Amino acid sequence: MEGFIDLLPKVELHLHIEGTLEPGMMLELAKRNQISLPYQTIEQIQAAYDFDDLQSFLDLYYQGAQVLQNEQDFYDLTWAYLQRCKGEHVMHTEIFFDPQTHTERGIAFDTVVNGIWRALEAGREKLGISSHLIMCFLRHLSEEAAFETLKQAMPYREKIIAVGLDSSEQGHPPEKFRHVFQQAKEAGFLTVAHAGEEGPAENIWNALKILQTSRIDHGVRCTDDELLVNHLVASRVPLTVCPLSNVKLKVFSDMSQHNIAELLEKGVCVTINSDDPAYFGGYMTANFTAVATAFKLSKTDIAKFSQNAIEASFLQPEQKAALQQRVQHYLNMHLKPII
Ligand code: HPA
Ligand code: ZN
Repeated sequence: MEGFIDLLPKVELHLHIEGTLEPGMMLELAKRNQISLPYQTIEQIQAAYDFDDLQSFLDLYYQGAQVLQNEQDFYDLTWAYLQRCKGEHVMHTEIFFDPQTHTERGIAFDTVVNGIWRALEAGREKLGISSHLIMCFLRHLSEEAAFETLKQAMPYREKIIAVGLDSSEQGHPPEKFRHVFQQAKEAGFLTVAHAGEEGPAENIWNALKILQTSRIDHGVRCTDDELLVNHLVASRVPLTVCPLSNVKLKVFSDMSQHNIAELLEKGVCVTINSDDPAYFGGYMTANFTAVATAFKLSKTDIAKFSQNAIEASFLQPEQKAALQQRVQHYLNMHLKPII
């Protein structure tokens, strides 16, 4: 199955670009920008990545992001991720970025977007990887701060396809951001939100009903509510699930306890994504492999994650059709009996 997964054409829909900051690059950028970190070696950084929950991860994630200072840093970070994509047959990726993580410490919004965007353009031209950019509001900050961020994004309306919501879910439900999401919609942005990662199924309902999101990021707590699962199946609202992240942050005690195979079997439009791969132990191929190893899934099942991701993406219908054809062709090749 691993050979099949390696070359399977993939689409990623839940990836925080700040979460692709590998320990080596963190040390390199800290040196380049004269930022002091509580670590001297890659091993020390890796040893610190032992999380109890979402918040314990976020504390280190925001600390790590401080080494990102200049446009070139954001370019280098994004370019390194795109090269990983190339190596893992990720054909299309929809990337989150957290402007407030940077603007709060005095880095200009333009610096962040321009660096990321320039790398995405190079990815399209030199690597043939298509991409979209999604701007997340930090939910532990106020709705007023989110409004300010939305204002900063307006000149980049053509470069940012959607707004999202991330950071600490506990105590910061979707409805806290009702008005800013409404305004973002009116300005033409699509909407997504992290919900039902650590928070209850009710947050998934409210993201759908109040924020009118096109997708739910994580959403694994949906299985606490049978009506919700039925709704997800009928509506085909996608879940961007991140298996290695969920185990690292103890949303599930072990991959064998994860509900992704159950969701797939029930007919939910469930996808596999890497979330913050530098922190959680792997990119797309590692996430697919971890799921395939924990559950008895066929090649058809595994390919369904890619087919769902194409359906769930913000690509145009003709782009989706072209990618679906590639996956179907790949699957057919591998299902054909060898004579
Ligand atoms: N959940 C919430 N916020 C985040 C995550 C996540 O998995 N990754 C980066 N910010
Ligand atoms: Zn996430």
